[in-house]
Amino acid sequence: MKQLGKLMLVFVVFVSAIFTYINPEAQAAQDDHWEKIKKRGELRVGLSADYAPYEFEHNVNGKSEYAGIDIELAKKIAKDNNLKLKIVNMQFDSLLGAIKTGKIDLIISGMTPTPERKKELDFSDPYMSVTQKMIIKKSEADHLKTIDDFANKKIGVQKQTQQETIAQNEIENAQVQSLTRVPEVIMSLKSGKVDGMVIEGPVAEAYLKQNNDLQFADGVKFNEGTKNTAIAVPKNSPVLMNKLNSSIKDVKDKGLIADYKEKAAEAMKKDDGNFITKYGSFFLKGIKNTILISIVGVLLGTVFGAMIALLKLSKVKPLRWLASAYIEFLRGTPLLVQVFLVYFGTTAVLGLDISALICGMIALVINCSAYIAEIIRAGINAVDKGQTEAARSLGLSYGQTMKSVILPQAIKNILPALGNEFVTVIKESSIVSVIGVSEIMFNAQVVQGASFDPFTPLIVAAILYFILTFTLSRVMYFFEGRLKVSD
Ligand code: ARG
Repeated sequence: MKQLGKLMLVFVVFVSAIFTYINPEAQAAQDDHWEKIKKRGELRVGLSADYAPYEFEHNVNGKSEYAGIDIELAKKIAKDNNLKLKIVNMQFDSLLGAIKTGKIDLIISGMTPTPERKKELDFSDPYMSVTQKMIIKKSEADHLKTIDDFANKKIGVQKQTQQETIAQNEIENAQVQSLTRVPEVIMSLKSGKVDGMVIEGPVAEAYLKQNNDLQFADGVKFNEGTKNTAIAVPKNSPVLMNKLNSSIKDVKDKGLIADYKEKAAEAMKKDDGNFITKYGSFFLKGIKNTILISIVGVLLGTVFGAMIALLKLSKVKPLRWLASAYIEFLRGTPLLVQVFLVYFGTTAVLGLDISALICGMIALVINCSAYIAEIIRAGINAVDKGQTEAARSLGLSYGQTMKSVILPQAIKNILPALGNEFVTVIKESSIVSVIGVSEIMFNAQVVQGASFDPFTPLIVAAILYFILTFTLSRVMYFFEGRLKVSD
């Protein structure tokens, strides 16, 4: 009964959380943004590290480090204000949500101040300006020359960027294909899924250097040619804004951007060594975290799942309903959505300051608990009714019947299904990469950015997932065999 109480509590918190979210007052605390940063002593800068030379990861003695113009700028701002710096790396299209929910304090991500964005955010003075370019496959160069040649063609862009708008507005009848990360768009281009990519000049150069099959479509000129790059700040943060602008002024006065560019170019140089020596450590870290979150997901998921299964089997109708609602909701909504709900919900709604890793685990545990509840319930139900009747007529209580007669038999149905769930979780856990949890998929993406090779890291990730799941299912077959023997 105690567990029931706890469960109810969780449910009530969840529901009231949803209501506070609908109530806008819960979001009004952003006036004293600077105060919050100062108190914390840490500046959280959000960016999407797929954007060399602005921000990318590179390997320094087998360890990944952030580098780039934006990173240097962020370091300077932190230093000017005596703050520690925390880089929060995520998809470009998640940055807006992250800053709105207070996950990050600033966006320094090669971002262009656009009228739409200015409705939601404020922008600092610009610190750079860049030109918009089109890149294509070399082999297509003789028939893709001017912007008119791209009419009706497939154009790749990074999702939610200025380049997406440009492709839509300036190319006649373009079929714009937006992907979340720059390396993915590059890969579409290389494999011929799109005919051209709209991309900012310096970023294009970084990728062209490493991909000899690509080149600029030099004849293409966009009206929205040159664009500024600035730091995005939550609305109504005058103090913070002043501090940023004075750091930017200093950067310009001292001509530091040139230094930053040079440093970035240095970091972009391919270091020697083969793929494994250079990037092996990224994948190792990924494997460790994938295993960790999967184990936590299945173990805690089993604990909660068992509780929910009991609720669902209970004699009390409302409890059964509650359990059904929980299970149906979680099985009826995508894990991807749940992950974002937990990630943004914990800060925006509950005001908690939880790391991406923990958020990812929470989402997986909740999701698993619903599936496992059904596994356990089905396992118990599959035990022949006659067993209960026989036990009860022998004088065993309900509890005793469950413990000594039903559960031991149910376990045989449950364990193999739990094993399958484990395999599923290992694969599904790749979804938490979207909030920046450093598991296998996330690290594969990091390596895509660091190596400018969009394909190989994916192959490695696939092999690693396969090794994990294949080993696990072999182990399970073994135990299943043992269970049968013990029959
Ligand atoms: N400047 C473009 C924009 O603001 C693209 C920025 C993309 N940044 C990134 N880190 N991927 O829309």
